[in-house]
Amino acid sequence: MAKERKIFVCQACGSITNKWVGQCEACQEWNSIVEEQDNSHPTGLGKSTSSRNKGQIIALDDLRGEDTPPPRMISTINEFDRACGGGLVSGSAILIGGDPGIGKSTILLQAVAKLAANNIKTVYISGEESISQVRMRAKRLDLDKSPVKLGAETNLRDILATLDKETGLQVVVIDSIQTMYADTVDSAPGTVTQVRTCAQELIRYAKRKNVCIFLVGHVTKDGQIAGPRVLEHMVDTVLYFEGDRGHQFRILRAVKNRFGGTDEIGVFEMSDLGLQEVSNPSALFIGNRSGDVSGSAIFAGMEGSRPMLVEIQALVAPSSLGQPRRAVVGWDNGRLAMIIAVLDARCGLGLGAYDIYLNVAGGLRITEPAADMAVAAALISSLSNRPIPEETILFGEISLSGEIRPVSQTEARLKESVKLGFIQAYMPSKSKHGHKISAQGKKMHFIELDQISKLVDLVAGDAL
Ligand code: TYD
Ligand code: MG
Repeated sequence: MAKERKIFVCQACGSITNKWVGQCEACQEWNSIVEEQDNSHPTGLGKSTSSRNKGQIIALDDLRGEDTPPPRMISTINEFDRACGGGLVSGSAILIGGDPGIGKSTILLQAVAKLAANNIKTVYISGEESISQVRMRAKRLDLDKSPVKLGAETNLRDILATLDKETGLQVVVIDSIQTMYADTVDSAPGTVTQVRTCAQELIRYAKRKNVCIFLVGHVTKDGQIAGPRVLEHMVDTVLYFEGDRGHQFRILRAVKNRFGGTDEIGVFEMSDLGLQEVSNPSALFIGNRSGDVSGSAIFAGMEGSRPMLVEIQALVAPSSLGQPRRAVVGWDNGRLAMIIAVLDARCGLGLGAYDIYLNVAGGLRITEPAADMAVAAALISSLSNRPIPEETILFGEISLSGEIRPVSQTEARLKESVKLGFIQAYMPSKSKHGHKISAQGKKMHFIELDQISKLVDLVAGDAL
């Protein structure tokens, strides 16, 4: 029998070394190397294929050909179906990641309950909560009459045996993959090897039995699904459940989807009756804004194919510190530094001497460069103490030279804005749009800008 080999695996990035080191050479993380057993041989838990010494000839197909699109199972929670690319596909594996307590178990319980109510056979396996805890939650959500089958187990072998025995199963939830334990592997649950092995076996089961499987994954402090990024490659769809725990809004975001568009989002609101759908998020994110305050700008953003208006708030205050404070919530720190540098270098605003706070209202996180102009406008507005006219939205990317660049999907942004009662847009010149954008008798008025200095003049007037 071959001697068992020990390997050392980085728990942050999954890279393997053959001796223990204090810092991972691949991802530079400290103290992340853990000794594990070499698991490069098949685990033998699922149905193994017969060993063949000689390869068999596989049939090759033409790229051209007719295939019917895969049928979708609809949960009737529209925001959930949308994030999943328009419903669940049989035989697909979906990883759903998010901070602890953000609502992963809640949304999945709600989804399977709805699916089960539509005569789709579902099983929910919890490795974190007992049956009675799950039942209690279901009762609170008023879902306790739904024919969902529950299991509380962490042993992978038992779970696979149970699932294999069930007939006609269509959707399975594993909550969470970090608690699952394969007894063929010598490492502790939650380690890279365990997580990878369990996920592999469960995905193999899903493909073999044509079952849609959800794997819940915890997220580490820096926002990665804990353990290996390899999980993301193994599954068909990766969803992140995001949100600020101080706010009630939650966003289910597709970051990878082999069966649908990525960057699709579903918006929910956490209430005492579980997660409620929010079908008009823009109205919600700019909902309780008071008009005439300086430092507030409305950004007409896009989340995937969906326009979404958000309020960006800035506070610029003289600093008493040697190194002024910069605090950002919901946007990228580096990007803010760039906007400040451009405003200083191209327009001489002297923001270097001020403390700057930037906040995206509602707990939303924006990654689009198109928000540059709204951020710059909020900063200028706060510095000059001049409010941006009410009923105005902004979008546009700012280059290092101070130029304002056009962004994608101008038309969709403008249409959403006018629908919500905004009648003026500060936007990049040369933007492509239909020029006649109106709703409820109001016509949109465009102010096209090509240089950031023009934005400073427009917002601050003679105040700077
Ligand atoms: P949960 O789904 O257990 O989070 P995760 O599985 O991502 O760790 O969410 C639990 C949180 O949601 C908890 O802080 C309580 C809150 N919650 C509500 O506010 N209302 C509800 O109806 C439910 C079920 C949970
Ligand atoms: Mg949970």
